[in-house]
Amino acid sequence: MTTTEHHTPTAAGSGSSASAAFRAAARTTQDVPPERVDTVARAVLRGVHQAIREHDVTYPEFQAAKQWLMDVGEGGEWPLFLDVFVEHVVEEVAARTQDGTKGSIQGPYYLPDQEKLPWQASLPMRPGEKGTPLVFAGQVRDVDGTPVAAAELDIWHADDDGYYSGFAPDIPDGNLRGVVVTDGQGRFEITTVRPAPYQIPTDGPTGKLIAAAGWHAWRPAHLHLMVRAPGYRTITTQLYFQGGEWLDSDVAEATKPELVLDPRPQEDGRLRATYDFVLERG
Ligand code: DHB
Ligand code: FE
Repeated sequence: MTTTEHHTPTAAGSGSSASAAFRAAARTTQDVPPERVDTVARAVLRGVHQAIREHDVTYPEFQAAKQWLMDVGEGGEWPLFLDVFVEHVVEEVAARTQDGTKGSIQGPYYLPDQEKLPWQASLPMRPGEKGTPLVFAGQVRDVDGTPVAAAELDIWHADDDGYYSGFAPDIPDGNLRGVVVTDGQGRFEITTVRPAPYQIPTDGPTGKLIAAAGWHAWRPAHLHLMVRAPGYRTITTQLYFQGGEWLDSDVAEATKPELVLDPRPQEDGRLRATYDFVLERG
């Protein structure tokens, strides 16, 4: 006999899953030339030294920081922490040389190799998946306006409780994730549910820092997308919802005005949002 229990994701759970996903991505560690390491590492340390001088940081504060850094590592929270507080600036620098649809951070919850789906499809979801049904439709074009056929829209998002499959207990693998392939005219029409805002787990070191500093831990509701096609530069981005909570105070600072959807109710009562993606060659 089993009892029905509601499992809330823990920071340790989502943190270590995010660490495992990062390692599994089997990225080839780039050989950074010594001059570059020297320049950047020196600049980072200079920033830390400056903060200590400017704010008269004490020994107890230094030891508290050391303890916290150890906790972040032991909890596997470096992907969470870095993607929330640092990635947006790396993206900002990458965006300097990017045309077409604006990018945004990837975050820690991408999982590769999800189910391939035709241009008109529902994302895999549980029977009776909670949340407002949402139809997300549009077209992929290149910068000249030519439709891009057979482009892949790799989409992933949180559920109506703000949790991601693969990183929270009790959600089936692949839930609200999929790779949708555009038709001959570059079109897609994806049925899913509207995600809820996401809160950084409050019970881990990242959450504790946020609470200790008196910040909030929220990101506005968002869809994650990676849009790719042979011969084009892949776009990694996120789309937000007009009027949504936290849109103006995203803890990850990853919103852009160009990336806000304005969903409207369709005749059948479901929400419909449209967005066209523009890819640059490369
Ligand atoms: C984090 C979570 C997200 O869903 C996201 O889009 C970006 C960052 C995080 O917890 O680090
Ligand atoms: Fe996210």
